[in-house]
Amino acid sequence: INKMKEISSSVDQYKLTKSIKGQIQQSYVIVLLLIALVIIFLATWFGFHLARGITVPIQELAIATTKVASGDLDIQLKTRSTDEIGTLVKAFNKMTADLRQGRAEVITANQELKNSNLELDRRRDYMEIVLANVTAGVISIDRSGYLTTINKSAETLLQFNADKMLGKDFRDVIPDSYMPQIMALLKELFYSERGMVRQQITIPIGNEKYTLMLHLTTLRDKKNNFLGTVIVFDDLTKLYKAQRMAAWREVARRIAHEIKNPLTPIQLSAQRLRRRYLSRFADDHVFDDCTKMISNQVDELKNLVNEFSNFARMPATKPSENNFNEVMSECLALYKQAHKNITFQLLLDQHLPDTKFDREQIRRVLINLLENAVAAIAGEGTIWLKSAYNQELQIITLKVADSGCGIPSEDKARLFEPYFSTKKTGTGLGLAIVSTIIADHNGYIRVRDNSPRGSIFIIELPATDS
Ligand SMILES: Nc1ncnc2c1ncn2[C@@H]1O[C@H](COP(=O)(O)OP(=O)(O)O)[C@@H](O)[C@H]1O
Ligand SMILES: [Mg+2]
Repeated sequence: INKMKEISSSVDQYKLTKSIKGQIQQSYVIVLLLIALVIIFLATWFGFHLARGITVPIQELAIATTKVASGDLDIQLKTRSTDEIGTLVKAFNKMTADLRQGRAEVITANQELKNSNLELDRRRDYMEIVLANVTAGVISIDRSGYLTTINKSAETLLQFNADKMLGKDFRDVIPDSYMPQIMALLKELFYSERGMVRQQITIPIGNEKYTLMLHLTTLRDKKNNFLGTVIVFDDLTKLYKAQRMAAWREVARRIAHEIKNPLTPIQLSAQRLRRRYLSRFADDHVFDDCTKMISNQVDELKNLVNEFSNFARMPATKPSENNFNEVMSECLALYKQAHKNITFQLLLDQHLPDTKFDREQIRRVLINLLENAVAAIAGEGTIWLKSAYNQELQIITLKVADSGCGIPSEDKARLFEPYFSTKKTGTGLGLAIVSTIIADHNGYIRVRDNSPRGSIFIIELPATDS
């Protein structure tokens, strides 16, 4: 029975359990679902966490890279991990550090370069200033014959244009008129043992002839390699002119002295002869003619000698407050009446300031120039007298122009030399006196062709009292 009871209770229990089978199944499913949800949630969270650990540093790296690309090298990234990303960030940081150092080195090197360039510029400027301010002309030619230096004095004196000539072969740009002389000197330099040649040459520049003292020197570097040639020259023209003028004055003084003395006795003797014998030889006109001739010629000789001694003993200038316009109109008035065939034109600058000059000497200048102008005009012609004042440069310009025969260019260079004359009875002293007076007044005189015919004498004088 017991067994039976046991079996029946088991059956009951089974029946009961069977009835709640669905409930049990349901609760199991719910539990399983919950576990699955938790697992999914955890997996997602872990996934996100992992992804952030990779993408954030990579994003930071990307931003930092663009910054580096745009020049910001001060960037430093934080290393959060020791994985591959950490290594990448470390490598990146090292790279920027290297770049920073490199850039700093480049900057210092650049600065040093700049400084040394500045120093070089300074030295070059200094050399250029020295070269520009030496009164001697300096020209240098490199080993291939190209012009490397033409200083200011050389430019002015030789009428060169340095900008156009530098860097060119000297054989192409040096004027043909004196090229052979230069070539001969260079040849001499080539064969000279000391690598130096000194010579005086006379060359034509423009319309005038210049006398230059040339020093040619071979340039060599420390290893004695040929680098080129340097030519230094001085203008001796003015010195020569002054020396010549002084010599001529001495000649004039002696001639005047030697000739003047016997002239008066000759003239007196001739006059005495006339007084005593003219009535006796009244029927013979030879005696009358000859004694008259002697007397007249002696007069002319006296005039000549006077001009000589004037030139020889030119008095020192006595400047006083004057106006050039006044002197000009005064001189013109003298000539206007005497020469009816010539038209005189006076063009005066009314703003000409009063300046200090020797009135008598300037009168002499104008009269000499007018005398020549009148002589240059055969028949009808015009003579212009002009004055002008340049306030900026403080220069007064006087011009005497004519429509006469003009002056051939070969004569122009010698015009102002004493005793240069193309006239039969000319002394050639007129323009020599003119140029001496103008030089005594610190001025400058030159001659140009007038157009269409004739010549212009241009005088430039300082408007300030010196
Ligand atoms: N205005 C001029 N026109 C042409 N030739 C001139 C003129 N002025 C000067 N000359 C030339 O210059 C030379 C020198 O002049 P100058 O010294 O006054 O001496 P001179 O008048 O005694 O000849 C003259 O012989 C003449 O040939
Ligand atoms: Mg004259």
